[in-house]
Formats: sequence, C-alpha cells, structure tokens
Amino acid sequence: MAVRKVLVSGGRSGIGAACCEVLAGAGWQVVAADLDPGPQGVTLDVRDPAAWTAAIDAVGPLDAVVNCAGIRTRAGLVDLTLDQWDQVVSTNLTGTFLGTQALFRHLMDAARPGGVVNMASVNFQSAVPGQAHYVASKAAVVAFTKAAAIEGAPLGIRVNAVAPGAIHTPMLEQRLAEPGQREWLEERIPLHRIGAPGDPARAVEFLLSDAASYITGVTLPVDGGWLAS
Ligand SMILES: NC(=O)c1ccc[n+]([C@@H]2O[C@H](COP(=O)([O-])OP(=O)(O)OC[C@H]3O[C@@H](n4cnc5c(N)ncnc54)[C@H](O)[C@@H]3O)[C@@H](O)[C@H]2O)c1
Repeated sequence: MAVRKVLVSGGRSGIGAACCEVLAGAGWQVVAADLDPGPQGVTLDVRDPAAWTAAIDAVGPLDAVVNCAGIRTRAGLVDLTLDQWDQVVSTNLTGTFLGTQALFRHLMDAARPGGVVNMASVNFQSAVPGQAHYVASKAAVVAFTKAAAIEGAPLGIRVNAVAPGAIHTPMLEQRLAEPGQREWLEERIPLHRIGAPGDPARAVEFLLSDAASYITGVTLPVDGGWLAS
C-alpha cells in the first residue's frame, strides 16, 4: 500500500508531538506543523487561512490532518476578557475549521479520500470553573466534527475527534504545579492515573487507520474513565 501523509498541527509539543511519533511508527509520512515548528517541521498559525494553504502547498499531497493545536487559559466568567475569549476560540475552534476546510479542498481537487481527527477534550461535556471559553471551544469542536463528517462522507473523507482527559503535557504542567492538584486528579480519574501523550495519540492513529473505515462523526474519550463517572 502507498505511504500516506499526514499533517499534525501543534506537532511540536505534547499530544501533537506524540501523534507525530505514533503515526510515524504506524508507517505514515508525518509533517509536524506549529508556530515554532523546529528544524523538521512546517511553520503554521492555525488561525490564518493563507498559512494553511501555504503549508499544504509546501508539503505536497496530503491524505490526512490532525487538528491538535490548542491553547487553554484560565479566567472566571466575570473577568474573562473578549481578547482571552477570542484567543482561545480562534485557535481551538477556528483553527480546527480552517484545517479541516483546507484538507477537504485539497482532497477534492485531487478526487482522493482522506481523514481528519480533531482534538477535543473531556471539557466538551464536563465543564470546569474558570474555563468557559475553553469549554465552549471544545464543545463546538465536537459539533463541528459531526457536521464535517456528514459533508465528508460522500467525498470519502472521515472526520472524527478524540477527547482527552488529563494528559501530562506542558499544557497540564501549570495545573500540576498547584498544591493538591495531582492528588485530586488521580483520585477523580477512575483509572487513577494521569494520561501520557501517547494515550490520545494511539486513538488518533486508530481513527485514521483502515481499522476505523466505518467510523465517522464520533468523539472518542481517552480519559481513564472521566466521562463515565
Ligand atoms: N493536556 C491535556 O490534559 C489536554 C486535555 C484535553 C485536551 N487537550 C488538547 O490537546 C491539544 C494539545 O494540547 P497539549 O496538552 O499537547 O498542549 P501543548 O501546549 O503541549 O501543545 C500545544 C501545541 O499547539 C501549538 N499551538 C498553539 N497555538 C497555535 C497556533 N495558533 N498555530 C499553530 N500551533 C499552535 C503550540 O505551539 C504547542 O506546540 C490541545 O488542543 C488541547 O486543548 C489537552
């Protein structure tokens, strides 16, 4: 079978970097795209439609995109500024829309099938204080995934999402530094451990693989049982 190529946004760090590693291990040709991508990667600001076009043109024929780039900030609802709202929504939601749209256009031009996996979060369903903007962005990613899946189906493009729970990455480190947070999380998670970046990355690889060829429009929690309890 021909080697397939995937672009992973946010591929420099955390879950995105693990996606790059796991997908490469499964035989994919992988392009890591990020604001500061490092020597092997491609520069991409997911909020910029022109940057998506340039990145895809630069890396050549693509079969899949993993929309993993994301940010999380904290502010109570009454203090949340419009700028904080816009930063999170434009990265997490608009970036996912633009990446999905860019891949759809690219694949349609070539009349080829393909796949998208979007990075949601357990917070799409389970809200936490101080993150109304993040929670709203991730709930919208899940809704967007379903909408894109039904438009992608006739084109042979499957669109799914992964919803990680607490995963040990730079994004979580600030929270883990607060007294008692690690203990609270380990008690709250039914499997009693914080996830590793490879946990959601292996789910991404599965959803892009032929083993998932009848799966589209779903959001798969990878959360140690968080949403089940
Ligand atoms: N870590 C967790 O516990 C957790 C839980 C649920 C969901 N997630 C989601 O997983 C994804 C990855 O998070 P992570 O924990 O690996 O975080 P991380 O901070 O380690 O990595 C995020 C990456 O996204 C990149 N990025 C940010 N803004 C960008 C932009 N505008 N354009 C391109 N790249 C940009 C950053 O440079 C960074 O490399 C995010 O969407 C996050 O919301 C993480």
